[in-house]
Amino acid sequence: MHKIGLFLGMAVLLASFGANAETTPSPQSAIRLRQDGFETILRLSRGLFDELRAWSPDKRMIQDDASRLAEVTQQIPSWFPAGSGQESGLRTNARPEIWRNPDDFRRKAEALAAAAAKIDQAAKAGNFDAIKANRSALVESCQDCHASYEYRAW
Ligand code: HEC
Repeated sequence: MHKIGLFLGMAVLLASFGANAETTPSPQSAIRLRQDGFETILRLSRGLFDELRAWSPDKRMIQDDASRLAEVTQQIPSWFPAGSGQESGLRTNARPEIWRNPDDFRRKAEALAAAAAKIDQAAKAGNFDAIKANRSALVESCQDCHASYEYRAW
């Protein structure tokens, strides 16, 4: 009985946690989530292209990275809830223009997600040349968004 109660309690807790993450996370957790998310994006894309240059690329590793990259890049628009910009007083390089031009920001996020999806498809097909052919679209999508919406703009 107790165990079931505990189990249900945890299920409710987890459910509300999930709901919160989607609706109104604190600015702090939103910023942490997206900065971690972008670090993951950087790590996956670097890992993938480094591996492609290896003498004998590990196809499985490339496929795993590509599939995670396609997944995580789709989440970008949800990482910028209102109130999580400079006005939060927290350390973030997100420019206020993100919330002024949401359509353009979303388009730039979609450009990255589209490049990542093509890379994922190519990886699933084991077509390394097709992955390489999409590399510049991927890198340009990072730069294109950072130039308008990120303070460091690297
Ligand atoms: C749609 C816009 C957009 C795209 C596309 C984008 N970024 Fe970013 N990126 C941002 C913003 C905004 C920040 C600042 C986040 C913050 O500080 O809150 C950021 C921050 C980062 C950071 C720093 C995270 C940290 O630890 O503070 C890295 C690394 C990064 N991006 C890598 C990439 C890479 C690699 C790509 C392409 C594969 C990419 N980004 C594509 C908008 C974008």
